[in-house]
Amino acid sequence: MIDTHCHLLPGLDDGPKTTEDALGLARALLADGIDRVLCTPHYASQFPTRHDDAEERLRELRPELEALGLEASLAAEVSPGHAVSAPLEELRRRAIAGRYVLVEVLRDTPPSFFPSVFARLEEIELLPLFGHPERCRAVQRSARIADRILRDGGVLQVVAPSLIGRFGGDAAAAGWRLVDTGRAGLLASDSHGTRRRSPHLGDAARMVAERLGDAAAAELTEHAPSRLLAGERL
Ligand SMILES: [Fe+2]
Repeated sequence: MIDTHCHLLPGLDDGPKTTEDALGLARALLADGIDRVLCTPHYASQFPTRHDDAEERLRELRPELEALGLEASLAAEVSPGHAVSAPLEELRRRAIAGRYVLVEVLRDTPPSFFPSVFARLEEIELLPLFGHPERCRAVQRSARIADRILRDGGVLQVVAPSLIGRFGGDAAAAGWRLVDTGRAGLLASDSHGTRRRSPHLGDAARMVAERLGDAAAAELTEHAPSRLLAGERL
């Protein structure tokens, strides 16, 4: 599997603190069946990660990741506030293969936020990939928000902890609704470490396979992620 949302790099955000911790998470990803990971450190007021720092962390860690058999690349998880206010050049640097920007969706993100992100990213010819929209109350209440995002060319990334119930019943129900109706384009781990929010992508993928078949699970965790990293439209 390819994990397209992971806080693997050490000492940048609320992910692993040390290199040792990061390598522990890398081993957990491999044990979970992940052999390729997109590192997405927070880019937010609380964690104003400099992209240069993230690149350097990945450069330092890469030989050890490769020795373990884990291929890694870099983007970021851009907070809602930064998505609409950070310099466009900063957003462009954090884009995935020059096409999508991973934008974090929060519980209280309002419906009006989504079109404003499209408008902002359009200025630099990028599209939003929304991370864990199922945790947002507005998305939980109305399927129309998700439909509008898809119509405008955005992608919805559901995360494993939601599907296994870690974020409560409402997020689980909304996450499964997005998966069951084919609105979810990607399934990712959003893992932060081995203690707190460990991978669980394998568990969630097995649940998807049981409900919708192996092909559906492979699409969400292998094929679509592979196209994303290749810079293709999803
Ligand atoms: Fe995240």
